[in-house]
Amino acid sequence: MKKTLMIAAAALIAVSVFSISCKKKTTEPEPDPVVTTPTPAPSLYTRVGGTTMVNDPTHTGTMIEQGRLTLRSVVDSSINVIAADPQLQPYFTALFTELGAGNTSGLTALSLNFTDFMCSATGATNSAYAYGGRSMKDAHDPSHNTRISMKVNSTDFDKFVGDIGTGLAKNGVTSANNAQLVNDLVALLNTTKSAIVQR
Ligand code: HEM
Repeated sequence: MKKTLMIAAAALIAVSVFSISCKKKTTEPEPDPVVTTPTPAPSLYTRVGGTTMVNDPTHTGTMIEQGRLTLRSVVDSSINVIAADPQLQPYFTALFTELGAGNTSGLTALSLNFTDFMCSATGATNSAYAYGGRSMKDAHDPSHNTRISMKVNSTDFDKFVGDIGTGLAKNGVTSANNAQLVNDLVALLNTTKSAIVQR
């Protein structure tokens, strides 16, 4: 009888220990997970200067985001390169006719619209810089935009992007000193190619 009681007690203890160890397992806190949330890559707009406010060198007393200032400078330099490029001049007869008559309003509008386009495309979030012009398809279709003399072909598109590369270099951004930025901006411009090339 005594032996039976001892066996029963031992069995009871064994069951209790087992159940405690089982319970322990389920209530043990999980180890802290390693936090691996990737840091989002900075936008192209951030990489060309972003939202830092600086004095606008061409409008005394006015502040401008550094990103927009960079892009506006590149656009204006590029327009000058493109306007001097005999391969591309035939597209811009409306602009040249205006300029010949001393009217710079179309040039100012082109600079503004092109800069807005670049700000929006590179990721600017300032609503004052939002692009409000035509779609790339309509802007480069003479039946929707009488300011372009003819439809664009692939070779001329590539020349235009090359001229923007020269515009970038005029602002200190070159493949030699910032190949990644140049590549990424050119890749962005090339995303518009299928809409712009229409012959
Ligand atoms: C590389 C990508 C290009 C971008 C992002 C671009 C962007 C623009 C923008 C934003 C406008 C103004 C649209 C508006 O006012 O509604 C414009 C107009 C124009 N674009 Fe482009 N463009 C590109 C390529 C080209 C090419 C390859 C040509 C010709 C070879 C071209 C010729 C023109 C002309 C002639 C105008 C009208 C200019 C004026 O108003 O006097 N563009 N473009």
